[in-house]
Amino acid sequence: MFFGKPKNLLGLDIGSSAIKMVELKDLGKGKGYQLKAFGIEPLPAEAIVGGTVMDSGAVIDAVHKLLREHNIKNLAVATSVDGNSVIIKRISMVAMSEAELAEAIQWEAGQYIPFDIEEVKIDHQILETDPATGNISVLLVAVKRDLIGEYTSLLGQAGLGAAALDVDVFCVQNAYEINYPINGSEVTALVNIGSSTTNIGVLKGSSPLFWRDIQAGGHNYTDTLQREMNLSFQQAEMAKKGEQVEGVRPEQVVPILNAVTEEFGAELKKTLDFFRVTTNENVIHKIILSGGGTQVPHIDRYLSQFFGVPVEIMNPFQNIVVDEREFPLDTINRLAPHFAVAVGLAQRKMGD
Ligand SMILES: Nc1ncnc2c1ncn2[C@@H]1O[C@H](COP(=O)(O)OP(=O)(O)OP(=O)(O)O)[C@@H](O)[C@H]1O
Ligand SMILES: [Mg+2]
Repeated sequence: MFFGKPKNLLGLDIGSSAIKMVELKDLGKGKGYQLKAFGIEPLPAEAIVGGTVMDSGAVIDAVHKLLREHNIKNLAVATSVDGNSVIIKRISMVAMSEAELAEAIQWEAGQYIPFDIEEVKIDHQILETDPATGNISVLLVAVKRDLIGEYTSLLGQAGLGAAALDVDVFCVQNAYEINYPINGSEVTALVNIGSSTTNIGVLKGSSPLFWRDIQAGGHNYTDTLQREMNLSFQQAEMAKKGEQVEGVRPEQVVPILNAVTEEFGAELKKTLDFFRVTTNENVIHKIILSGGGTQVPHIDRYLSQFFGVPVEIMNPFQNIVVDEREFPLDTINRLAPHFAVAVGLAQRKMGD
């Protein structure tokens, strides 16, 4: 349709352990979204290491498999990045027009970005105006051009168009906001536990206050099981997921998993303590977990006891209309935590 509403992009979350794909249809008039397609395709362990694509062939094959199996026709993609090549800051500036800000931000950014300004692409968004001073809070996001180039070229080689590039932690926030009621003053920590990276975002109501990626996640469990029980990567992955591995008894696995969860809790605490000292917020009211790392038994319960706050695992499909004849609900529910970033991406539209 020529004058129709812009279509949703295909959300493609290229994670280090698996690619997650979601396509949504905007039902319009505030009626939310309907699920059109979703899929997950594992990647070999060495395909993406430390956020760098080592084996683009393997990634492209996995993307093609998803497109084929789910009969995807929408080749305009939204994808996301995270890690050390992404810098996010919330800064205060005097009020000005959007055009003035677009210019000023390029100058302003220099003092907040630890890279040469030529090396990064900068984006910004006005979050709110302080009623007392009239100053504006601006979200400043800088992403290394190298990384953008890498993803754009990868998608190009896969025959796809990179129509939007987002940041994992914002995608998780978007997924959260369409699925859960937002309480204006509540401070919520969104913790997306992937394989190698955990993205942490803290919101007050829906206003983002703090972001940090830490190099910890599901991979730490696999790694520790491999080392302590002398297993291969595959065996350790299976043991972690509670699957049977020859010569491995669950009583041996559980204490190792628990010890890694405790280490993870301590790492998360460092970040949340840092959040508290760098902002004026002393209380975090709740923690919302997502990512495949949430599937480790009792991690939610442990973190809830450790931090003394309610901890919930996000279902990013909770508020999305799902046709059960097309998508088995048990599969969706089992895999849901993996899809927070992909659902956030799938909300993006052409040209936004
Ligand atoms: N049933 C399960 N039990 C325990 N861990 C699981 C289970 N299912 C998946 N995982 C783990 O979840 C992790 C993958 O989660 P996710 O898909 O969110 O990560 P990713 O996006 O690929 O990684 P990253 O964001 O770090 O690049 C892996 O470490 C995987 O072993
Ligand atoms: Mg991920």
